[in-house]
Amino acid sequence: MSCEHTDILKQEDVEKAFEEALKKVDIMLETFKTTFPSPNSNNLIYWAEDNDQGWTQSFWTGILWLAYEGSGDEKYRQAAEGQLDSYIKRLREELEIDTHDLGFLYSLSGVAEWKTTGNKKARQIALEAADHLIGRYKPKGDFIQAWGDINDPEMYRLIIDCLMNLPLLYWATEETGDRKYREIAVKHLRTTLKTVVREDNSTFHTHYFDPETGLPTHGVTRQGYSDDSAWARGQAWGVYGMPLSYSYISEPQCIEYYYRFTDFFIEKLPQDYIPYWDMIFTDGSDEPRDSSAAAIAICGIYEMDKHLKSEKQSTYMLYADKMLKSLIDSYTTKDDPHANGLLKHAVYSKPCDRGVDECNIWGCYYYMEALVRKLKDWDMYW
Ligand code: GLY
Repeated sequence: MSCEHTDILKQEDVEKAFEEALKKVDIMLETFKTTFPSPNSNNLIYWAEDNDQGWTQSFWTGILWLAYEGSGDEKYRQAAEGQLDSYIKRLREELEIDTHDLGFLYSLSGVAEWKTTGNKKARQIALEAADHLIGRYKPKGDFIQAWGDINDPEMYRLIIDCLMNLPLLYWATEETGDRKYREIAVKHLRTTLKTVVREDNSTFHTHYFDPETGLPTHGVTRQGYSDDSAWARGQAWGVYGMPLSYSYISEPQCIEYYYRFTDFFIEKLPQDYIPYWDMIFTDGSDEPRDSSAAAIAICGIYEMDKHLKSEKQSTYMLYADKMLKSLIDSYTTKDDPHANGLLKHAVYSKPCDRGVDECNIWGCYYYMEALVRKLKDWDMYW
């Protein structure tokens, strides 16, 4: 069953929003056939990049799969399928794959295609990506190293975003029967929950470990305002990360932490329900919003609704619908004819002054995912 509709968000609102989104996808499709949109836009316009670096190409492939599943139009399926070879090349030729983000990259390409069409080549490359990903596991500390050379002690850390990379591992165990992927994912999950969450339910973006002893040392931020603030997107990765793990492993801990992450996220929302880029900022701030954080959190709350019925969850659903309504009404590019992105007022990295108050491709993806979740019974790619 698709998510229930509340009075806040009507079926026709969602249908109309999906139609508008498809218009932008069509504009993107004119440019991005063998290339991929940049991670963030410039003046709401993405430029073209190859699939040879970074972590974001698969959001475009995922958008195409969502467009196909939401509309039934074969042109989106063909376009998505046409991209698979670039993911095969990237992994086999090892083009910047020293990252935990293989989960993002291969869930929304290989797994999505396998689940949607049954293409065995897609399944195979996603399994190979899972093999690479477990190569980043650090037994001293029990975590998957986020970035960079796995032998570099300066890089001995995890980041909250990695919760989104775990589904590739759970899926690989389900597909192959080999428990090693799931075991590593569960160890990483438990270490993350032990280290990144503060008493007030806010989260560190990243956490370091001592490479000699494996003991956690300290939490810091990379994309947030300060080490002790709550970077909005990091908090949102936590909100969505919990139902994703729960859907595979059914650990009650995932529900406990889902409540903690989501309570904090909702508590800090400004009046229009779309968070500032860091949750240290609240109403009255001149700081930019991060609409992508809202889109991610909405999908997390909608996913958890399949697994959890409680008063709190019903309240979260109302907030999720309010967030989605706010995105539909005030954050899309439907009145920006020059734009090729879908969702504006997002932030990539404020500290690096990168993609500030622009579209970013994961924001566009999660916005589409939220709409598709409302429109139909959707078998997730995660
Ligand atoms: N995973 C990187 C980011 O959220 O910017």
